[in-house]
Amino acid sequence: MTEKPSTEPRDGDLGAAAIPDLRRAFPAPLRRGLYEAIFRRRDIRSFLPDPVPDETLARVLVAAHHAASVGFTQPWDFVVIRDLERRREVHRVFAEERRRNADQFIGARREKFLSFKLEGILDAPLNLLVTCEPERFGPAVLGKTSIRDVEIYSTCLAVGNLWLAARAEGLGVGWVSILRNDALAAIFGLPDKVIPIAYLCVGYVAEFPDRPLLESAEWAARLPAKSLIHFDTWNGVGDARDHRLAELVQSAEIWKSIFSADPD
Ligand SMILES: Cc1cc2nc3c(=O)[nH]c(=O)nc-3n(C[C@H](O)[C@H](O)[C@H](O)COP(=O)(O)O)c2cc1C
Repeated sequence: MTEKPSTEPRDGDLGAAAIPDLRRAFPAPLRRGLYEAIFRRRDIRSFLPDPVPDETLARVLVAAHHAASVGFTQPWDFVVIRDLERRREVHRVFAEERRRNADQFIGARREKFLSFKLEGILDAPLNLLVTCEPERFGPAVLGKTSIRDVEIYSTCLAVGNLWLAARAEGLGVGWVSILRNDALAAIFGLPDKVIPIAYLCVGYVAEFPDRPLLESAEWAARLPAKSLIHFDTWNGVGDARDHRLAELVQSAEIWKSIFSADPD
């Protein structure tokens, strides 16, 4: 009897190339591909109208569903939103919340905020709502004691997977949080125990910018990686090895073996 083909990818499907060493690192092209997806992913707010093929969307959703989750609870759901009337309702909520958000800033910064396009709700061919049902598996969860939000963290990992897989597929994703959860719950008929986590606009794009749009617009800058690394304690000064690590995270050298190596 032949085994039923699995609908999900397995280790052996990663390619014919044997995994090269005992540390089980991916072969160079796969490693490079992963880092490419990470560094080339962008938050996108302008979309082409071209539809997203169902097969592509299906892969992206399965990638999201393969995220880590506390106690393997898989607390997420994905609402696929094509209906224009519902999207218009979401856009109205966005417009109200954008005004409230603008009021947090004054003067030139407020004007700059108001000049940004911060969503693609109506121009993207597709919107997705990623939700979290914290009590999906009841109150007792392996991995959950006093940290209450672990299912929400898990759902954010699913969004991260989705965002990276979409980038690998050439699809842009824009996360819109200038919204209200009560409004999203009403518009999409969410059950009481289901929390909206991420409202995402999805579609093909004219370009993926090299840098975050908020960086190009001089709204915010990427913090130096070195400034975010601590040794043993928050105020730990570290030893010579630690200082070298702090330099390495800023160095282009660490990427040479990934981006310049011949494929193995
Ligand atoms: C939780 C979350 C909420 C966000 N909400 C918005 C939003 O409402 N509108 C927007 O334009 N971008 C939003 N973004 C995108 C960020 O502005 C963007 O990730 C950041 O500027 C870095 O750019 P990059 O994603 O292209 O690297 C959000 C991102 C996250 C992770």
